[in-house]
Amino acid sequence: MLAVCFGAAAYGQVHISTSRTSLVLDASEGQKLMMLYYGDRLSEDDVRNLKAAGAFNAEAYPAYGMSGASETALAVTHSDGNMSTDLIVDNVEISDKDGGKLAKICLKDKVYPFYVNVCYRTYPDSEVIETWSEIENREKKPVVLTEFYSGFLPLRRGDVWISHLYGSWANEAKLAQEPLMPGMKVIKNKDGVRNSHTAHSEVMFSLDGKPMENSGRVIGAALCYSGNYELKVDTDDSEYHRFFAGINPDNSSYRLASKEVFKTPELALTYSDEGMSGVSRNFHRWGRNHRIAHGDVPRKILLNSWEGVYFDINEAGMDQMMGDIASMGGELFVMDDGWFGVKYPRLTDNCALGDWGVDRNKLPGGVSALVKMAEDHGIRFGIWIEPEMTNTVSELYEKHPDWVIKAPKREPVTGRGGTQLVLDLSNPEVQDFIFSVVDDIMTANPEIDYIKWDANMNIANHGSQYLASDNQSHLYIEYHRGFAKVCDRIRAKYPDLVIQACASGGGRANYGVLPWFDEFWVSDNTDALQRVYMQWGTSYFFPAITMGSHISAAPNHQTSRTIPLKYRIDVAMSGRLGMEIQPKNMTQEEITLCRNAIAQYKQIRPVVQFGDIYRLVSPYDNLGVASLMYCTPEKDEAVFYWWKLEHFCNQHLPRVTMAGLDPDRNYKVVELNRIDSEPLPFEGAVFSGRFLMENGLEIPYTHKVDYHRQNDWASRVLYLEAL
Ligand code: GLA
Repeated sequence: MLAVCFGAAAYGQVHISTSRTSLVLDASEGQKLMMLYYGDRLSEDDVRNLKAAGAFNAEAYPAYGMSGASETALAVTHSDGNMSTDLIVDNVEISDKDGGKLAKICLKDKVYPFYVNVCYRTYPDSEVIETWSEIENREKKPVVLTEFYSGFLPLRRGDVWISHLYGSWANEAKLAQEPLMPGMKVIKNKDGVRNSHTAHSEVMFSLDGKPMENSGRVIGAALCYSGNYELKVDTDDSEYHRFFAGINPDNSSYRLASKEVFKTPELALTYSDEGMSGVSRNFHRWGRNHRIAHGDVPRKILLNSWEGVYFDINEAGMDQMMGDIASMGGELFVMDDGWFGVKYPRLTDNCALGDWGVDRNKLPGGVSALVKMAEDHGIRFGIWIEPEMTNTVSELYEKHPDWVIKAPKREPVTGRGGTQLVLDLSNPEVQDFIFSVVDDIMTANPEIDYIKWDANMNIANHGSQYLASDNQSHLYIEYHRGFAKVCDRIRAKYPDLVIQACASGGGRANYGVLPWFDEFWVSDNTDALQRVYMQWGTSYFFPAITMGSHISAAPNHQTSRTIPLKYRIDVAMSGRLGMEIQPKNMTQEEITLCRNAIAQYKQIRPVVQFGDIYRLVSPYDNLGVASLMYCTPEKDEAVFYWWKLEHFCNQHLPRVTMAGLDPDRNYKVVELNRIDSEPLPFEGAVFSGRFLMENGLEIPYTHKVDYHRQNDWASRVLYLEAL
């Protein structure tokens, strides 16, 4: 809901609200736009008296040049060289948008014909408010933008902590939590292509001291962008931590032509007084309903060929893998890298990207024969591509050396395989080519259900052979505009296709790409123990339907760790379940375990993929165990996960209390994926939600199995059904 309340003359407050949150602005005509409040939903009386109580006293979209030393959201060099901008409210437009509201606060420079719309959007069914700006140059000549953040939020000082994700390839989405201290905290990305390996563009602020999962006031912020970003929190000498988020302005100053409008990406804000898990639930619901492709469609259980056969693709091998996943109850097979390249067959990672013709030596019947095989096995077929890239060893590069990103006069800098290059998506011809990669595959085989879209290189040398010499600094921004145009075209023509965003693992886990992509590959690291940590971090902002989570081989191919299959299954089952393994190397007993797990996952799939998350014990708290659960919004079903993280004799693990249940309902508890020779003492027993949330259940530290099968791992999945 969104209302404008006008008090005294020339005093205009804009109250932007969701069912449980409020954001209040002072948008008095001719004055600076001020942010007064963001947090719990306010009554109209409280809104009216906000200023008297002492509200935020901060400009909502501060521009550089007329307000001293503070950090700013916008910096402009006007066409005459003037570096200052002085914005005042021109008018307020409020309209209905898809059941929610859109507020545009139109700001105008006092002297220059230079305009900024500061926008806020709400949705009817979500606690998220999106904000962005539209910057318009009506001067006669170009102006230069050197800062263009999406949004700004002041946070009242106190004991405010920031939680954010950091990491690296094969170690994505690790959780970091720290109190905000004086000085500047900057979270940034400059990869150019992918943006979530090393840091994420989503953060949470716990306002009541050390972050808590299920209590306390928390603000969440997610920048919805696929490219370079910067999030900064300036704790200056004021009463506020000043938070900014937007496109990273470094080496990206933007010449805004006369009449051109620069729209910044959306910054999604949410607030909950139910702790960090509350903020996660807000983001998950908003994501599934509005920001993730097919967010309301259950995800299929798949086998991906990569860790099973790597580049060793051939028809008989694909047929065998399809048969095996079908026999275990899987629903989709995805053929990964290695299937293409005619002049330069893709035998390893040093050639052929861009040459998307089938290697007929490996696959004489082409893709259509594979699609037919999948059909015969009763499953769907998916295929891997990396369409934004080429290699110096490729027919594409021989034909179009001018299509790759490189600086004029310089040799291109190569990546993977010593030969990989990034195509220049600022170039419309390249955009057409990338669209045609998908379009050709889909036209030839419309039955294809799923595309794994990979991106394994960064922009290593700044330079566009397409952009004009005075617009070279637009490269990072134009790359992602080009990417968006291609994705829009693909979605217009192929609305039902499932597309995974892979980028050397979790390089594209962001709400910038998810409107076109159904999911992402959390990490190239499939080690179940490390996945507990990475999927935990990812779950702060992204729901289980987006998290590709696969059962893989032991020893694990990345960590060499040997983890029993039971534990690998129990971890994979907390996300979008899949397999990444050669089934023919599995024993019959292992196949049976997977078959049962797949059948049980099908039962709990709606709870995991569409349920509300409650994180219970964090692996980052080093208590020896991690635990979380998903509950349906109706609280009639829940799935509880418990993973032991270390093993010592006479160790003491915490007894985990549950959350998210209805205290007044009774739940029957059933263990899934059971391997023990005896059922758990509480198997089939009925407990009240209140008991489970206040006391929890005692989970044995080990599994009861034959002596020679005992090991140091333990995990449990419990299914709870309300009676
Ligand atoms: C990247 C992906 C992997 C796999 C390989 C194929 O590393 O992240 O999952 O697809 O490329 O080359």
